[in-house]
Order: sequence, then C-alpha cells, then structure tokens
Amino acid sequence: MSIISKDISKAVALLNAEELVAIPTETVYGLAGNIFSERAIKLIFETKQRPLFNPLIVHIPSLDYLSKIVDDIPKKAQLLADAFWPGPITLVLKKKPVIPDLITAGKATVAVRIPNHPITLELLKQLDFPLAAPSANPFNRISPTTAKHVEDYFKNDIKMVLDGGACKSGIESTIIGFEDEEPIIYRLGSTPIEAIEKVVGKIELKNSSAKHDGNQKDSAPNAPGMLARHYSPRTKTILTDDLAKAISQNQDKNIGILSLNSEFENPAVKFQVKLSLNENLQEAASNLYDALHELDAANLDIIIAERFPNYDLGKSINDRLERATK
Ligand code: TXA
Ligand code: MG
Repeated sequence: MSIISKDISKAVALLNAEELVAIPTETVYGLAGNIFSERAIKLIFETKQRPLFNPLIVHIPSLDYLSKIVDDIPKKAQLLADAFWPGPITLVLKKKPVIPDLITAGKATVAVRIPNHPITLELLKQLDFPLAAPSANPFNRISPTTAKHVEDYFKNDIKMVLDGGACKSGIESTIIGFEDEEPIIYRLGSTPIEAIEKVVGKIELKNSSAKHDGNQKDSAPNAPGMLARHYSPRTKTILTDDLAKAISQNQDKNIGILSLNSEFENPAVKFQVKLSLNENLQEAASNLYDALHELDAANLDIIIAERFPNYDLGKSINDRLERATK
C-alpha cells in the first residue's frame, strides 16, 4: 500500500506521536521530526544513515518563532530573513539552549529556515514544535523532488509522505552563516547569489570545497554535509563542457545525456533529458533531480552531463552536478 497521502491531520498525529513524516518544501522533500523528541531525531539519522556529525535544518512556521530558538541575530541576517522567508534560504545563527545538541551536532549554531510551501506551512502552524528535516534521501543519494521519489527510498521505513506535488525550486536551500556579523555562503542553492547580494552587498562564498570527502574529518567543511560526493546517482556520471567530444570518447557504452536543451543523434546515446527547452535556469533547476533519478534508473553505463552557464541558478546546478560526479 502506498504511504503517500495528502492528509495533513494524519501527518500532525504521526509527528505528535514522535514518528517521522516526509514533507514537501519548495526545494526538496524533507524527512521531518519533532525537534524536541530525541526519539524522532535519532530516527532521522538512522533512517537516512546519516553520520551524527552532520547537523539538521530546523523548519519554523513564521518569523516570530526565530527569537525563541536563536540569540544575537546579526543585522544582515534579519535583512535576509525579511527579504527571502518563507523561501529557500537557510540562516546559521547562534542557538539558544532549548535547541538539542543532537540537532546541531554539538555546534553552538543552528540552521533555520521557513519553507515556502503552503501544505508544510499549514502543517507547521498546526504543530507545537518546529520540524527538523534533512532532505528525504539516504545519505549520499539523489535528493527527492516528488513524493514518489521518497516512497521509493523509504516505503519500508516511514509511515507517511505528505504529498505536496513536485518541488518548484528543485535544489536545496542556499545556506548562509555569519562570521563577525558578515554573511558567508556555506552552500549554493535555490536562492541565487546575485539575489542575495542585492540585499546584503558583496558576499563571500565558502561553498565547502569539492576537495572534502567523508574520510577527512580534520578538514570538516563549514556545512558538514557538504561532502565532495553527494547527490549521487549510482551510475557513473561525468560533467563536461564538450558533450560531442565526451560522447565520441564513450562509444563503447550505453550513454545517458543530461543537457540544458541540446540534443544528440548518436547510436550510443540511449537516453537524453533536456532540463529546459527555452534555457530557463529556474525550470532547469526544478527538473534536475527528477532527471537524475530517471537517468539513474535507465540501466546506463554512463551519464554525461553538460556544464551549465555559470551564473545565477546555473552556478548551483553546476555545484550539484560536480558533487554527483565524484
Ligand atoms: O532545502 C533544504 O535546505 C532542505 C529542505 C528539506 O529544507 N533540507 C536540506 O537538509 O537540504 P540537509 O540536511 O540535506 O542539508 C542541511 C545542510 C547540511 O549540509 C548541514 O551540514 C548544514 O545544512 N547545517 C546544518 N546545521 C548547520 C550548522 N549549525 N552549521 C553549519 N551547517 C549546518
Ligand atoms: Mg541533503
């Protein structure tokens, strides 16, 4: 039987009973639990097989809630919250003691956002607690942008996916931390840098480098989940500036192509996904993970992805594709 349901009251009941529910957001589906329930939070880490050193994002219903869980909000954090919430920006701020250490992996800071999805906003309003929710994929796998993606991963592990349709933004939130009150981007995401700079001026990027892999604990990234290999299909994946050349170099394989809108006629190419026919980066971002899920299920030997224009959401798409190829 399917675990996908639109029933918000059922989600409320499960979350009140310290169970997990997968929830829709504008970015990706999250695997949600009560931040104050040790049982629920432990279940999140177990279900995802996520290492405990990787902290969770706390989802709150409204701006009023922010001061209940964080201290010392920098001026530019307030500006960003006012400009982008509800929406795909996560702010890493000094936590109040009420936030359990399990959520923050022992850090003094907590990552917070207000998601922009009507169903999840309604759900949050009906609960007495915020929701911790990492993306609803097993550790290191492709993030889910439909209820079906989540069901395929976790049908034996959780009781419910709250169905909110396909995620509109399609890549995770942009994560911003603060050092000496100044904002720094820790993870590229669905809010483009250009839009952020319009609000707070020039901003530094420490998009925890592609150098890290899970074994290098001494070089822990700023956002500890930002490991080099992430968002990964199981099929070998490469990223290229020259699709035609990469195709000709892999003639002995069954090839899948992921492109913005270019198309290739070649006998080795068995499957192609074009992310946006009219080169709309927003549309491309919203289709990205679904395309990777499809390509990964198509029994290919190799997925060849074309590098995207390196501005706006193109930068965030390239970031995810680079991590998919590690
Ligand atoms: O769009 C999103 O952000 C989605 C939806 C469900 O809201 N969530 C998501 O969560 O992407 P997750 O767990 O897959 O990624 C959270 C990232 C991780 O890289 C984690 O290391 C970072 O946030 N993070 C959480 N708390 C942090 C903290 N206190 N300091 C630095 N990074 C933190
Ligand atoms: Mg994730």
